[in-house]
Amino acid sequence: MPKSPTSAFVVAANRLPVDRVESEEGSAWRVSPGGLVTALEPVLRQKHGVWVGWPGAALDSYAPFTEDGLALVPIKLTAAETDRYYHGMSNSTLWPLYHDLIAKPAFHREWWEAYVKVNQRFATAAAEAAEPHATVWVQDYQLQLVPAMLRELRPDVRIGFFLHIPFPPTELFKQLPWRNRILEGLLGADLVGFQRPGGASNFARLVRLRLGHKTHRDRIVLPDGRQVHARSYPISIDFASLDALARQPEVAERAKQLRADLGDPEHILLGVDRLDYTKGIKQRLRAFGELIADGHVNVEDAVFVQVASPSRERVQQYQEVRDDLERWVGRINGDLGRIGHPAIHYLHASFPREEMAALFLAADLMVVTPFADGMNLVAKEYVTCRYDDTGALVLSEFAGASDELKQAFLVNPHDIDGLKHTMLAAMRAQPRELARRMRALRRQVREHDIAAWAESFLTDLETSGDHHRAAGSR
Ligand code: G6P
Repeated sequence: MPKSPTSAFVVAANRLPVDRVESEEGSAWRVSPGGLVTALEPVLRQKHGVWVGWPGAALDSYAPFTEDGLALVPIKLTAAETDRYYHGMSNSTLWPLYHDLIAKPAFHREWWEAYVKVNQRFATAAAEAAEPHATVWVQDYQLQLVPAMLRELRPDVRIGFFLHIPFPPTELFKQLPWRNRILEGLLGADLVGFQRPGGASNFARLVRLRLGHKTHRDRIVLPDGRQVHARSYPISIDFASLDALARQPEVAERAKQLRADLGDPEHILLGVDRLDYTKGIKQRLRAFGELIADGHVNVEDAVFVQVASPSRERVQQYQEVRDDLERWVGRINGDLGRIGHPAIHYLHASFPREEMAALFLAADLMVVTPFADGMNLVAKEYVTCRYDDTGALVLSEFAGASDELKQAFLVNPHDIDGLKHTMLAAMRAQPRELARRMRALRRQVREHDIAAWAESFLTDLETSGDHHRAAGSR
């Protein structure tokens, strides 16, 4: 077996940036789903780092490999671990608990045991990949025990942790039977990053209340004198590369083609999500359907394109939300569509970057309505593609992105009337107003891109690490 690659910069995330998919034509690598990979891939590339993660399926060989210039260390999960650690503890306990109980979390001791075991495996692999005094950046809710486990193995490395999803209020977090173990796991890091300031303060509060550690604003002092910082770092995307892609003539041509295929209606509305119960997909389609039924919108002038990419399909709650959504789409189209003019084009699929950029360019109105969302990078991707300052973004105030994208049309997705009203206002807004908003939205993403995010986290991590070293050497 080839020796594992090592680096001064290591990322540990549940998924590798590429996902192994089996099809009739054989197996192949494709880009992994979700915003985490979109955001971190350019960072790893720039730093020539090593990425430790799960390949999404069983492989013939778990030898480290290079794919598209990235050094990857695949972690093996058995079928039972995939079930208990990934579908179970990660996505049926932590995901719903951290997303405001939109679905009910389940608590099972055997899922927790698998979570501990798999976290230990990730920590060991990260320890092997890290050069002396390296920086290891651990990602997301699937790996919350890794920071402490890694510190045990490698006290010399700087450890950062970033949570891509919301961190819940203390009242919700308290339900977790293994609450203290998770807090202790995270405290293995020198710096714990969150998407929003509320997440960082929830964490500090819990550490104070449950573990009795002293906290001074964003600084936590452990009994041995080591210090941990907890701060917010709103994540972003690679603005320059997506902007450049959107400006390619073939992408504009494809966008024109898409509009023509949709019958060149006056308004094209777009939703793009992983098919997840947190995303509020049904609510936005329902609001659109009601606008047609009420006579505010004519089905021949407006169409809604909803891309819902397959996600976590073995989890029952995801199967239910898909069935429910598909019933709704059928119902709205059956009631309101005309021959050649369905109200909704529903695509249960994921598409390559170029096709997504063309869709963003083709859409007059992007509708992003999650009930809870760490950031939502789709909102940032849409404005990045609108280089001519056209188009409108309707955005849930429960998405982390709403802290920054203040010139979007902000909505509460639980309020269907408010949603209808805001979607209509966005459809009827004057081009001058839309341009004013879009300019400001684009400026925000341009100036706060993924490089700025990584740099601000990693710079803070360096000083957090120094604190710890200084404390340790006293
Ligand atoms: C969200 C999570 C990521 C996750 C992604 C895709 O963005 O924050 O950690 O990788 O969803 O979900 P999946 O379960 O397919 O990895």
